[in-house]
Amino acid sequence: MGAVLKSFTIEPLVEILAWGQNVLKEFDTLTFEVLNPDSAHGIYAGESITIEGKNYLYRGYKAWSDLGEILFCRMLTPKVLSDHTVQISYKKLDLSDSFHHSGAKEEKYGTQSKFSALHKNEEPAFLSPYLRALQSAKVGEKKRILNLGINTGDEFDLIRQILPHEEYLNLELVGIDHSQTAIAYARERFSEGNASFYVHDINDLASLELGKFDLIISIGTLQSPGIDFKLLFMQLVQEYLTREGAIILGFPNCRWMGGEMIYGAKAPNYPYSEMTLLYKDVYYCKKYLQQKKFRVTLTGKDYIFLTGTSIRKD
Ligand SMILES: C[S@@+](CC[C@H](N)C(=O)[O-])C[C@H]1O[C@@H](n2cnc3c(N)ncnc32)[C@H](O)[C@@H]1O
Repeated sequence: MGAVLKSFTIEPLVEILAWGQNVLKEFDTLTFEVLNPDSAHGIYAGESITIEGKNYLYRGYKAWSDLGEILFCRMLTPKVLSDHTVQISYKKLDLSDSFHHSGAKEEKYGTQSKFSALHKNEEPAFLSPYLRALQSAKVGEKKRILNLGINTGDEFDLIRQILPHEEYLNLELVGIDHSQTAIAYARERFSEGNASFYVHDINDLASLELGKFDLIISIGTLQSPGIDFKLLFMQLVQEYLTREGAIILGFPNCRWMGGEMIYGAKAPNYPYSEMTLLYKDVYYCKKYLQQKKFRVTLTGKDYIFLTGTSIRKD
């Protein structure tokens, strides 16, 4: 359906938000005219600014992009409308276009799923804290690395990209996932001889007799249905980490819909993102690791990264 054009100058954001929510009930796009964000630099959203006798409340592109995300829209390329104004347009996301709605089990995240279209390392809000976590864990100094819920191997791929090739080849990488198609793809993708992959249920690690690891990574997996989160986590720390080992856990705080990574995970019993479960699990891991003498940091936004590095001395 068609766009609606309206001009905003000094209206507060609460008014613009309510207008947008209302229009989007009926239309798929939202279009409005505002002060050109390039009109000023270094001033905050909501600061008053007067240009050629006309008053405006300033907002930058980040504010407009955030508003689009909150309205479950994609922001389109702005158009210059006049000397001092631009047109902001949003297009509604197709919220049904998401792997979250898939009912499949082992192959919910397989190569034929919508999930396989995601490239998380290409999202700055994922890449930056994951890189930092790898650096804090001193990934280049680790020998054996285990990844639980490896899928097609994007997390190993970034390690391969950031380390000098020789250093990368000295690593021994082990990836586990119950999706056959994802693991088949990962095996082809990492054919240098230093990686092995298992199609296996991570509730039953014992039967694989994997030994210990210097770094364990698991992103978006330990909170999956069918996994006893706390039990598995304690098992990993007690039985699968070397004394100097490190652990990186990524907790999703977003949804992937209609081509976008949208901040905020869907919570049971709430029509909006609510984070009690996330904080509870993250904090449980942090406390547990601290008791076991790990230094623990929490970073990230759309994915919360917990990085634990051993400071055990005895
Ligand atoms: C949300 S995806 C995350 C994949 C990858 N770490 C990423 O962030 O792109 C969760 C992965 O864990 C796998 N998985 C879930 N439960 C599992 C289980 N019990 N045993 C093995 N793999 C499991 C899924 O097949 C899927 O590849």
